[in-house]
Amino acid sequence: MKIDPLHPSFAACVLDIDLSMVTKSSGSQEIIQAFEQYGLLVFPNQSLTSEGQLRFAKLFGELESFPEATMQKDSEKVYNVSNIDASGNIPTVDDIQILNLKGTQLWHTDSSYRHIPALASFLMALELPDSPESGDTEFADMFAAYDSLPDELRTRLKGRHMVHNYEYERIYVEPRLPPIPASEKALVPPVTHPVLRYHPDRDRHSVYITANVGGEIGGLNQDEGKKLHKETINFVTQPRFVYRHQWSLGDLLMWDNRRLLHRVLPYPIDTQRRKMRRTSVSDVAPPQIKL
Ligand SMILES: [Fe+2]
Repeated sequence: MKIDPLHPSFAACVLDIDLSMVTKSSGSQEIIQAFEQYGLLVFPNQSLTSEGQLRFAKLFGELESFPEATMQKDSEKVYNVSNIDASGNIPTVDDIQILNLKGTQLWHTDSSYRHIPALASFLMALELPDSPESGDTEFADMFAAYDSLPDELRTRLKGRHMVHNYEYERIYVEPRLPPIPASEKALVPPVTHPVLRYHPDRDRHSVYITANVGGEIGGLNQDEGKKLHKETINFVTQPRFVYRHQWSLGDLLMWDNRRLLHRVLPYPIDTQRRKMRRTSVSDVAPPQIKL
């Protein structure tokens, strides 16, 4: 296993490893070590099947289920982030599957709308747009952003929480999406998480904020809360904290949702096929502040 760093503060490319051969006793400990150190691992030229990706993900925690009806799934634990429908075609731009992808273009951390969010996500490139650089994914390092917070901004964020609401996208980002059925809503009611959170495995802090399932910081009046949210997102996603990944077929990316934000960059969604296979493992506890 050979590790080539991709950015001064995080992200690394891992070569000379076949993920289908990794087991608990062979390779997974080295991967955990690299994952903790770099936060984002890029494994090029992988050939994992859906089952193989589930098996690999399972080495790092409890598989996360995607019970929500609106997600395109191979099974309850495999979520296709894709503009290709079940019959293999690209739906029209106003189709619910396409509208639903809009949130992925906003900075976020996966499943933050859950009481216990995703610890790690695994995303494999199965089909990619032809146009160069479109559909790239950007990642931002929230350890580096936290460490660089101006004292004044850190003081204003200290002790603050954000409401993460699965329904937010329907209301504020893409109102053309139909309402979420009550039964689905009941599975993921709004939750609050600290904006400055502790990362127990690294004994560091990160900024835990998202733009896809919320748009304000709690405990302030709404205008102030929205302003502080925007200011924080703008600060923590400055180019110096960001690595931009240009995908190749067979890339599998594994990242730490406790530490990184990410977003996909726009691509010709109504003409160019893009299919990514996502699996995730849950964290073991809700985000904490250090006691
Ligand atoms: Fe995501």
